[in-house]
Amino acid sequence: MLSLPPPPQRQTVTTPLNPIIRQKKPVKPKLLRPIRRTNPAIWICAVLCVIFSIFLILAGIATLVIFLVIKPKHPLFETTSASLNSIYLDSVEYLNCDFTILANFSNPNRKLDVRFEYVDIELYFYDSLIATQSIQPFTQRPGEARLGSVHLISSLVYLPLNLSMQLQKQVQSNSVRYNIRGTFRVRARLGVAHFSYWLYGRCQVEMSSPPNGVLVARSCRTKR
Ligand SMILES: *[C@@H]1O[C@H](CO)[C@@H](O)[C@H](O)[C@H]1NC(C)=O
Ligand SMILES: *[C@@H]1O[C@H](CO)[C@@H](O)[C@H](O)[C@H]1NC(C)=O
Repeated sequence: MLSLPPPPQRQTVTTPLNPIIRQKKPVKPKLLRPIRRTNPAIWICAVLCVIFSIFLILAGIATLVIFLVIKPKHPLFETTSASLNSIYLDSVEYLNCDFTILANFSNPNRKLDVRFEYVDIELYFYDSLIATQSIQPFTQRPGEARLGSVHLISSLVYLPLNLSMQLQKQVQSNSVRYNIRGTFRVRARLGVAHFSYWLYGRCQVEMSSPPNGVLVARSCRTKR
């Protein structure tokens, strides 16, 4: 007899479903149109622009506050002393003169540094320019005063006849009056903020006669 092998038994393995898997995830609604994504470069640009604008506004406010609190003053120029070494008139109208001043540049600010970027000093007899001298740029700390000797030499400078007569008269009466005019380019600095402007110094000096003429009187002012 043929014995048939028994039919293969169906294995029924029941694997318990993971309850987490069993929960259905909510299906996201499908978007019909794709979103246009903004270029990240544009975002960075916009953020930078905002930061920069805020920085500018803050810098403006800070500058205003600083200027209201600090109240910047312009530096001063004056003639502390002077010596009139010689005056010699060649053929009446040509002047030779040797004059030295001790100039006092001062920075009255308590917080601001100032720099004299351009310093030019001119000597006048009435309205006639008789000598000129420039000074190397220099910087002044707050409250600093700087004395500098300025040598003004006239060599065969033409003077109109009435002025040369006037000068001879002044020398004889032991009272020579000169005008000193300083032109300065000043730069004030506070941290990174700075500004430049022109400043004008004027001094009228009265000297005794040369040689060894000394300063008898002076009147100075500095204005913008
Ligand atoms: C220079 O000027 C400053 C400010 O006017 C003053 O305080 C100082 O005494 C002056 N120096 C001299 C030597 O005159
Ligand atoms: C000298 O003469 C000129 C004109 O030639 C005149 O303008 C000037 O005021 C005179 N100066 C003095 C000091 O007399």
